[in-house]
Amino acid sequence: MDDDIIIITDLVKKFGDKTALDGLDLRVHRGELFGFLGPNGAGKTTTVRCIATLTNYDSGTIIVDGVDLKKNQTAAKNRMGVIQQQISLDKDLTIRENMISHAMYHLIPKKERDERIKELSDYFDLGEYLDKPVDSLSGGWKKRAAIVCAMLHEPAVLFLDEPTSGLDINARRLLWDVVKSLHAKGTTVFLTTHYIEEAEALCDRVGIINKGKIIALDEPKKLCENVGNVAVEYMDEGKTRYRYFKTDEEAKEFVSNLNNVSNVTIRATNLEDVFVEMTGSSVGSQK
Ligand SMILES: Nc1ncnc2c1ncn2[C@@H]1O[C@H](COP(=O)(O)OP(=O)(O)OP(=O)(O)O)[C@@H](O)[C@H]1O
Ligand SMILES: [Mg+2]
Repeated sequence: MDDDIIIITDLVKKFGDKTALDGLDLRVHRGELFGFLGPNGAGKTTTVRCIATLTNYDSGTIIVDGVDLKKNQTAAKNRMGVIQQQISLDKDLTIRENMISHAMYHLIPKKERDERIKELSDYFDLGEYLDKPVDSLSGGWKKRAAIVCAMLHEPAVLFLDEPTSGLDINARRLLWDVVKSLHAKGTTVFLTTHYIEEAEALCDRVGIINKGKIIALDEPKKLCENVGNVAVEYMDEGKTRYRYFKTDEEAKEFVSNLNNVSNVTIRATNLEDVFVEMTGSSVGSQK
């Protein structure tokens, strides 16, 4: 078995004359918790949708668990679960019916299906909502239901496209516990998020995408190291400025030469610093 469960080579996806993915290359290791970061419009959702066979692509190759999507989409689909950024439950059905239809699609036997629906719904406190129509639930509760649907067939790779946006703190913590336990059981988790501190704490490796291309990919610690492990933050003419150094000594030397600045802080570089350095924009600020 290949150590890389997802292998993407030279992926191009266009929407009219707009190139959303511009020759994207990416490998995700089997069993890792992979964080996928990038500014708004960078191509994260498009990448997830291409891999998860929810949209087609113009050129390039995607191999999931040894299966080329262009050759055997159904086999690849069975290996994946997706929690989409835009919730994709059937509004004409109840939450339970959505779960059942998802389980039927993946040919899960009835007894197993009912057990898993119960177990996961209990976990996410969904019990009292199971027989209610989708539209009677708030966004966060719909998301909890979508998460259960995506996990029912115990996929080898679980994609979570901004799973925590719109979730309250309890649901977010529950989700992270599930993600951690799936990861511990060997599931590959592909997580797209704007909560960079979560990615930093949870992910084995992080890829940063900008304008349809991967611009950095490594362990969070190594990405910080590359930028410089010591950050100096200071206010200059009403703006917060950031500089990065390899050592404390270099940072202190830099600070000792600063004039007419305020609020000077020396601290450890974090993944958000890396993101801003690499993409030239703060999280979520690019059109
Ligand atoms: N259905 C579509 N039709 C036209 N353009 C699209 C479509 N879907 C995405 N795009 C464009 O493709 C680019 C990538 O969009 P995508 O949704 O993948 O970004 P993203 O990284 O997921 O952003 P966000 O952080 O806002 O979710 C954007 O320029 C977007 O406008
Ligand atoms: Mg998106």
